[in-house]
Amino acid sequence: MREGYIAVLDSGVGGLSVLGEMIELMPNERYLYFGDNENAPYGNRTKMDLVSITLKNLDAIMRYKLKAIVVGCNTISTTILKLVADYSGVPTFGVFPPIEKAVKESNSVLLLSTVRTALEFKNTKNISILGLADLAKQIENNVGDLSKVDFAKSINNPNNVFFSNSHNKNSRYDTVILGCTHYFFVKNKILDHFRPQNLISGTPFTAGAVFRYLKSVKSIEKNNRFSIKFIGNSAYFNEQFFKKSGQDIKKN
Ligand code: DGL
Repeated sequence: MREGYIAVLDSGVGGLSVLGEMIELMPNERYLYFGDNENAPYGNRTKMDLVSITLKNLDAIMRYKLKAIVVGCNTISTTILKLVADYSGVPTFGVFPPIEKAVKESNSVLLLSTVRTALEFKNTKNISILGLADLAKQIENNVGDLSKVDFAKSINNPNNVFFSNSHNKNSRYDTVILGCTHYFFVKNKILDHFRPQNLISGTPFTAGAVFRYLKSVKSIEKNNRFSIKFIGNSAYFNEQFFKKSGQDIKKN
């Protein structure tokens, strides 16, 4: 008998980048994808707002038999991951910006994230943090043609927040951290703009943690090809985008 689903949850298409990473590592699992595109973007919401949205979404996800929940969203992971774990009672994994690794490996680090995530990390030493008010929304609005995403417009949005705790005050960054799972889909625009030596994100670490956990409890599927069940208010939309971008996601 097959075991439960690995559920992936995000405000929209961003979590598909985490899903792609997990499929590479665990190609025989049953995945459940919940994208809450109707409530996106999460990144400009208050913590209270995120709590009520997430509990409602968890009720929908928990109707299925689950072996793990993966919060494919830096914003939810950095603000309320423990609540997700406690409420669901299911082993829960989040996506976090790999700040320690970045600081260890380079002199000048920029965390690029939603405003909510930027506020959570605003006092972090040795990095600069730029919270973009509209990039995730622009990505959601342009999934049909991501070349239409205007990154310069996002960078100049007056509602952005910026914190610099780095001793290195120049605006050249060796490492840029993609601190929002949506940003994977416009990583070339981000590379063109900042021209860093490294562009990193937390998604490989999340996939690795889920893999190690499932291995430790002997719960890795071996025989069947992976399947994905898309649920939530925009299931069809996310499924179509995954089909269209599947190759790029896997090349990550
Ligand atoms: N993809 C999410 C993240 O990683 C949230 C983006 C949003 O809805 O603002 O933060």
